[in-house]
Amino acid sequence: MPYNFDQLIDRKNTNSLKYDFSPFVFNAENVLPMWVADMDFATPSFIINALRKRLDHEILGYTIRPESFTQSVVSWVDQKHQWIIEKNWVKFSPGIVPAINLSIMGLSKPGDKVVVQPPVYFPFFNSITDNDRQLVYNNLKLTNGRYEIDFEDLAHKLEDATLFIFCSPHNPVGRVWTREEMLKLGNLCLKHNVIILSDEIHSDLILPGFKHTPLASLSEEISQITLTYLAPSKTFNLAGLSTSVIISENEKLLKSYTDFLERTHLKMGNLFGAIALETAYTQGANWLYELNNYLQMNVDYVQSYLKSHIPQVRLIEPEATYLLWLDFRALGKSEKQIKEFLIQKAKLGFNYGSIFGPGGDGFHRMNIGCPRSIIKKALSQLSKAFEQN
Ligand SMILES: Cc1ncc(COP(=O)(O)O)c(C=O)c1O
Repeated sequence: MPYNFDQLIDRKNTNSLKYDFSPFVFNAENVLPMWVADMDFATPSFIINALRKRLDHEILGYTIRPESFTQSVVSWVDQKHQWIIEKNWVKFSPGIVPAINLSIMGLSKPGDKVVVQPPVYFPFFNSITDNDRQLVYNNLKLTNGRYEIDFEDLAHKLEDATLFIFCSPHNPVGRVWTREEMLKLGNLCLKHNVIILSDEIHSDLILPGFKHTPLASLSEEISQITLTYLAPSKTFNLAGLSTSVIISENEKLLKSYTDFLERTHLKMGNLFGAIALETAYTQGANWLYELNNYLQMNVDYVQSYLKSHIPQVRLIEPEATYLLWLDFRALGKSEKQIKEFLIQKAKLGFNYGSIFGPGGDGFHRMNIGCPRSIIKKALSQLSKAFEQN
């Protein structure tokens, strides 16, 4: 393998949210942080080199994004996902959560209903309620160890909704939605005049054997009601650079977003983020292929370790992302008890399931975007804690 994903890099004292903020999040020292979604792998060297090269010029003034920035997105989604888009469908955004907030503000009114599918990435909830919109849950169903969409409930919830936030692939349950599921969902939104905010930030982190399909690529009609959110931040470990994009074929939808971006003076963006995005999308395919293979081996390691040493904790088989959804319900303990056990006894910092909304209680999210030796350490701490309990 040409890239060394086993390399251990000390992230402490780098103002890393995951490491340096961990003692405050877990209210304990020496907790192994496996929570917030960034990775402990080096950002690829071709990106670091491109950033270094820019630093050879010593003026870091206001910046514009060249056409090649947008072109890199157009080419990437074509090559990776066979999605043919036009350059003028792509707009900059300083982050996906900010872009979702601006879209909610631009495309709905206070009191309007916005549907989400919990357990799901929890900042969606605040994006809705902080803007005085109504949060509506279409709970996912867990059937034979796999999460599925409850279409009957969705059809009902969409009847009087304005927006639907789709998480594809899904964080934290790890589903890569099939074309059939998405067609059904897209057609329901068309039927009920609901606009879809499709968060596809994890769409490049697809485990071997699965294939992501951009929702908007399914049909011209679905494309016209969809805003897609994409970023290289999770994929290439660039979250600190606050650079992502929003894509839509529908000019009106896009304008409702760009109007807010202009009004709030957020469109300038970050010089380094633009360089990193373009470099990632033009040079990153091979690195990403290796990364996804490494992540699959991490998943396999966790799966086999749990089965042989800690069978009371069950892994929901992921199809995408480096975030594992672990089922602790067989222990028959409250979330508070499991939290205390994980932090105090196992010294592990996971995300608690209940923050992801209904259906999250009894689950914990473990970030496996790290060298295997860290995973081995974490699992060994977990199994020792069980032995001593
Ligand atoms: C589904 C999803 N959307 C958005 C984000 C964050 O995006 P940003 O940092 O660009 O706001 C994350 C981060 O974990 C995520 O999992």
